Amino acid sequence: MDWQHAAQTLAAHLADSGELSDPAWRRAFEQVPRHVFVPDAPLDQVYADQALVTQQRPAPTTTGTTGPLLPTSSSSQPGVMATMLERADIRDGMRVLEIGTATGYNAALLTHRLGGNNVYSVELDPTLHATARQRLAATGHHPHLNAGDGTAGWSDQAPYDRIIATCAVNHIPPAWIDQLHTGGRIVAPLAGAGCALMILDKTADDEVTGRLDHQHVAFMPLRTDVGNPLADRRSLGPATNGIGQYGTTSLDPAVYDHADHDLNLLLQLHLPGLSIGAMDNPRGTFLTLSTPIAYAQVARTATATDGRHTTIQYDGRPWDTAEHVAELWQRLGHPDRGRYGISALNRTDRQYIWLDHPDSPYAWPMPV
Ligand SMILES: C[S@@+](CC[C@H](N)C(=O)[O-])C[C@H]1O[C@@H](n2cnc3c(N)ncnc32)[C@H](O)[C@@H]1O
Repeated sequence: MDWQHAAQTLAAHLADSGELSDPAWRRAFEQVPRHVFVPDAPLDQVYADQALVTQQRPAPTTTGTTGPLLPTSSSSQPGVMATMLERADIRDGMRVLEIGTATGYNAALLTHRLGGNNVYSVELDPTLHATARQRLAATGHHPHLNAGDGTAGWSDQAPYDRIIATCAVNHIPPAWIDQLHTGGRIVAPLAGAGCALMILDKTADDEVTGRLDHQHVAFMPLRTDVGNPLADRRSLGPATNGIGQYGTTSLDPAVYDHADHDLNLLLQLHLPGLSIGAMDNPRGTFLTLSTPIAYAQVARTATATDGRHTTIQYDGRPWDTAEHVAELWQRLGHPDRGRYGISALNRTDRQYIWLDHPDSPYAWPMPV
């Protein structure tokens, strides 16, 4: 397969689907060889509109056992990358900071458009950072690269016109706000089950404000520990060693299981740090809700006797919250993500997501 033809076909597909409209970005997708940045994947997958996982690590569990392998690095889905680059409204001559270099492919697209001197990219994992540097150089791209925790931005080289995060955050790291030019823009995925993309403009020296984009995006979380795939050095499983409390529910857990990302977003706002998962054991299959301080399992199959679903809840009783959110979801008229906005000061205890307008009675602090 001829990679140039494959790259042109991919770019044409992204243009047809509406994700790529700027000719400069289209040229970048046509001319940057993605296969050099993900050399282990077959060429037909490399030039398909799909994310390619390049690194996984086992998740730690609260019981001390080794949990499932979870992705810790990837080359993101090209359509999502195109959306983020276009939403960033990048123009010639701008200086852009990327958080999450990973393979280096997005840094190469940015460098193709802006020149290496205007592109800065930070990667937590020093091994990935070193490999990306080699591959970028091999393809003639020389952005500024740094290994370290991108939560701190890259202060020596600030200010930036744009900051693009390619890992998901619970809140906006204050350093990103401080290191952005006034009028500058942050494009960053919101961590959690709602799979949302934030578009934030710097409206004051100490503040960014913005909206959630209509497109849903799923990214791996920003982490601080290279060896742990979970955010905030978390572990999977019951949040405490307490005894689970048994109960039943008439709400079918499938409502949170059918990829309704807008409903999951509303739930996530009520349960900071939420992840929705699945668990199988000899007693059946369960939906799991876990946050740093709460955990619940809900049986997917209803009992034959009363048609209800068995629940096991630990501290925090997150299924009680899920029942409340299902009712609120109806009352608010199934709000889609375009109805939410964000006001964030450069201190983590002053950052909110709100529904419809900043003074709305429905506003939630972003988790610290
Ligand atoms: C989805 S990948 C980014 C894809 C990348 N932009 C590309 O084009 O290949 C997410 C990356 O973010 C990195 N990451 C996670 N937490 C980070 C942090 N605190 N600082 C910098 N990078 C981080 C991960 O190690 C991972 O490589």
